[in-house]
Amino acid sequence: MKSKLNVLVLGSGGREHAICWKIKESSYLKKLFSIPGNGGISEVANVYEIKPTLENIKRFVEEKEIDIVIPGPEKFLVDGVSDYLNVPTFGPSKNASLLEGSKVFAKNFMKKYDIPTANFEIFDDPLKAKEYIKNKNNLVIKADGLCAGKGVFVCEEEKKMIEAIDKIMIEKIFGSSGDKVVIEEKLIGEEASILVLLNRENYTFLIPSQDHKQVYDGDKGPNTGGMGAYAPTKLIDDTIMKKIEDKIVKRLINGLKIEEINYCGVLYLGLMIVEKEPFVLEFNIRFGDPETQAILPLLEDDLLEIILKIMEGEKLKLKWKDGYSVCVVLASKGYPGEYEKGKEIKFSSRHVANSEWKDIIVFHAGTKKKNGKFYTNGGRVLNICGRENSIKKARETVYSFIEENVYFEGMHYRRDIGLKEERRE
Ligand code: AMP
Ligand code: GLY
Repeated sequence: MKSKLNVLVLGSGGREHAICWKIKESSYLKKLFSIPGNGGISEVANVYEIKPTLENIKRFVEEKEIDIVIPGPEKFLVDGVSDYLNVPTFGPSKNASLLEGSKVFAKNFMKKYDIPTANFEIFDDPLKAKEYIKNKNNLVIKADGLCAGKGVFVCEEEKKMIEAIDKIMIEKIFGSSGDKVVIEEKLIGEEASILVLLNRENYTFLIPSQDHKQVYDGDKGPNTGGMGAYAPTKLIDDTIMKKIEDKIVKRLINGLKIEEINYCGVLYLGLMIVEKEPFVLEFNIRFGDPETQAILPLLEDDLLEIILKIMEGEKLKLKWKDGYSVCVVLASKGYPGEYEKGKEIKFSSRHVANSEWKDIIVFHAGTKKKNGKFYTNGGRVLNICGRENSIKKARETVYSFIEENVYFEGMHYRRDIGLKEERRE
């Protein structure tokens, strides 16, 4: 291992800002770069707003003598960035990325290797799909391919199922991602996100967290990319954790070995806990967003060192700060539908916009910096993260910070991030 490295982080969201913020403090870092980055990332890394095609990334890596690449979003990995670049890239191969890139692949894999998941059927013909759902209640309709977290429709009644099938398979609102659908039983329980750093047989867990997928309080409204998260969560006790390890992670590793798929990177398990039993809702092949923004402020260790050690095949014991971390997403008017852009973000002081301030860290997602000011540039705009000794205090700190310090026209956010955990406490 070289002693100091040039690092390139790919992506432009809050997750990538959190990764850059954490890597910035690494004793292994020479220079930090990001493509395409955002307003906040430009405060901690050298941001290049070039079009992030594989060819452009490869050229950039050679020009800037990049030693390691860390892709944030799944798209780069599904497109095969890890196979394409000639430098170490922390993320699975194109082949292994099908675990997220195709729900049909992931569900068949889980069935084959006895990984607990909701019962399902697969259809490539909308008429057959509609025939199947006739007179049924409580099913979930999922487009096969990538849809930025919006390709899943949880339906109580048949009418909604038909609408979902029409949107995905006939209107093709997600393009070829909707050539096939998975239709599965609706599980009733509580969700959790488990991130695992995985290199073949070696795995290291990050602390468990919980996302809030729906746009409105009380888990109402359509699904989004994630409206907020907190970590850790007592929902995952030691017994459940052991089941996750034995029934999910070990079986998955066994399956990957048999299928001759080499996996190195982050594996994200989207779980539904049903009466203390974990079921996999989805695999993601990368860090979660916004889970990462909640998790990394609690990590004591050097993230770059961790990534380098994982890539060398080590199993690690990570050190975590005590307490809770809460991350609230501030979104643009209209999100997760069509949303507005270009609104000036008003911070109470210039300093507030720049990450750390008292107990708060501000991670930028869809922002753009112009002439020293920040403007909205995406659906999810800012992630306000706070760490405190209790979940109650962490929630209070974050929400009072938002009320007093940040505003943009049309801004909306959930007021109940972490509330389930507060009630558990
Ligand atoms: P996925 O992208 O497959 O994780 O689905 C997105 C979201 O839809 C999940 O986080 C859940 O909130 C919900 N969901 C997906 N599958 C199911 C299921 N089988 N039962 C209940 N809710 C589900
Ligand atoms: N938080 C959901 C995701 O990263 O896909």
